[in-house]
Formats: sequence, C-alpha cells, structure tokens
Amino acid sequence: MKISERALGMTASPIRKLVPYADAAKKKGKKVYHLNIGQPDIATSPKFMEAIRNFDQKIIAYGNSQGDMNLIKAIQNYYDSWDIHYETKNIFITNGGSEALEMAIFSLCDPGDEILVFEPYYANYTSFAKLASAKVTAVATSAEDGYRLPDQATIEKYISGRTRAILLTNPGNPTGVVYTKQEMDMIAAIVKKYNIALIADEVYREFDHYIKRSLWLGRNQARNLRKAGRNGVTAFLILFVHFFQIRSRCLIQSCRADLFHHRGAQTGLA
Ligand SMILES: Cc1ncc(COP(=O)(O)O)c(C=O)c1O
Repeated sequence: MKISERALGMTASPIRKLVPYADAAKKKGKKVYHLNIGQPDIATSPKFMEAIRNFDQKIIAYGNSQGDMNLIKAIQNYYDSWDIHYETKNIFITNGGSEALEMAIFSLCDPGDEILVFEPYYANYTSFAKLASAKVTAVATSAEDGYRLPDQATIEKYISGRTRAILLTNPGNPTGVVYTKQEMDMIAAIVKKYNIALIADEVYREFDHYIKRSLWLGRNQARNLRKAGRNGVTAFLILFVHFFQIRSRCLIQSCRADLFHHRGAQTGLA
C-alpha cells in the first residue's frame, strides 16, 4: 500500500505530542495549564442540555448539506442585528470550527500558497494549511509588549506574491489578546492593499469570563455594554465594524459551541 505524499508530509499535532507529558505531570500532582484548545470553565447552557434530552426523533437522518435552514436563518438574523447582511446561501454549517477553517483555506490556497498568522497561534493552523499543501507564515509577537501586532511596514515584509490571506484570531488563543481599533484598521488596510482575504477566527467572540456566561448580543445590547465601559465588548464591536468594511474579502469562522460552552458537541459556521 502506498501512503500519499500529503499524509507523509503531515506533522503530528503539537497538541497531541504534549498530551503524554501533561498527563505524566498531572499524575505527579502538578498543576498543568493547557494553552491549546480553548476549554472554557463556564457551564454548558441548560437550554442546550434540555434540547439533547428532549431529542425524540426515531431516525437520525442526514441533514441538509449546507446545514439546517433554521440554524442558518438564526445566524443570518444574528448578523442582521449587527447591520451585517449575509444571504443564507453564503452561510455554511460545519462540524466545528476546524472544518470551517479548512474550507476557507481550501477555497483560497493552491499548493505552495501562504497564510499569514501572528505567533504564538493556535497550533492546528499549521496542519490545516498543510492539508491544502499551503503553508503558514508566522509574524512574531511577544509577551513583553502584550502580544500587540507589529507595525504595518513590519507585517508587510512577510507578505509575498503567494500570500492569500491573513488569519486573525480575535480574541487570541493562546494569548488572550484582544486587538485594538488601530490594529484592526491596519489589518483591514493591508488586506485591501494586497488584495488578499481575511480569515477571521472568532471562536472566542462574546465570552464573558467576568459574569461566566456567553453574551450572544444584538447590536443595541452590545452598544449599551460598550457605553458601560466593557473593554472586551468594545473590541468585538470593532471587529464587526471592520468585517462590514471589508466584507467582500472576509471569511468568518465562528463556533456556536463556544458560545454555549459545549465544546464536546461542536457546530461551526463559515
Ligand atoms: C483559535 C481556535 N480556532 C479554532 C478552534 C476550532 O475548534 P473545533 O474544531 O474544535 O471547533 C479552536 C479550538 O480550540 C481554537 O482555539
């Protein structure tokens, strides 16, 4: 049997590589902080649990390949409430955020193309790009300056003729950084200048660890919270504003599972 070059070229997920070390350390009674997958310490929504308990269909049949239309329309309404209007044909339900990201990368990249990310970044981005025979180009950021983005000239040095997209995680994993309006302005300007796409990984949008729930906001609620001085929310608003401005070149991936805290039962959207 011949194994494909693609499979042979894949590197093991760094997350899996570290698991045995983390397990061994835990056995020795050490506290391990996982900086890999985002596993919130917020309880799963009782509504979600209730829906699972009340699921009473006799056959679990195949769904619509684009996704359940009720869910698609609910997502459309959600974006409408932010004055961001998508047609239902442009919303796809996926098996978690990873599939949405893979779809975005496959749609944008031919073999040898590049996706620009800011380091440290969610480790699986490398594997997603490799699957598409593309590669990740990482621009370093550092703990010393709070993982802020470098200036535009520095970022532009990493853009080549093969760069197809900037993949931005906001809020970031593992850094937790929330980008400022100026940083988002700069990313929007770069994306326009080089005619590339922005893949916006928003899996951690609308988390509120202060009150331990997800926000699931409409625009007016968010505006009120912003007035009340909630920094995180301000950043999310900025993100949306920029999506609107550069909407035609934006692929958004978002996870409802993250918002309702049932990470083991993910639904993504692209
Ligand atoms: C930044 C980021 N993007 C995407 C994902 C996708 O996750 P999943 O495929 O499990 O929905 C994760 C999961 O931890 C993540 O941290």
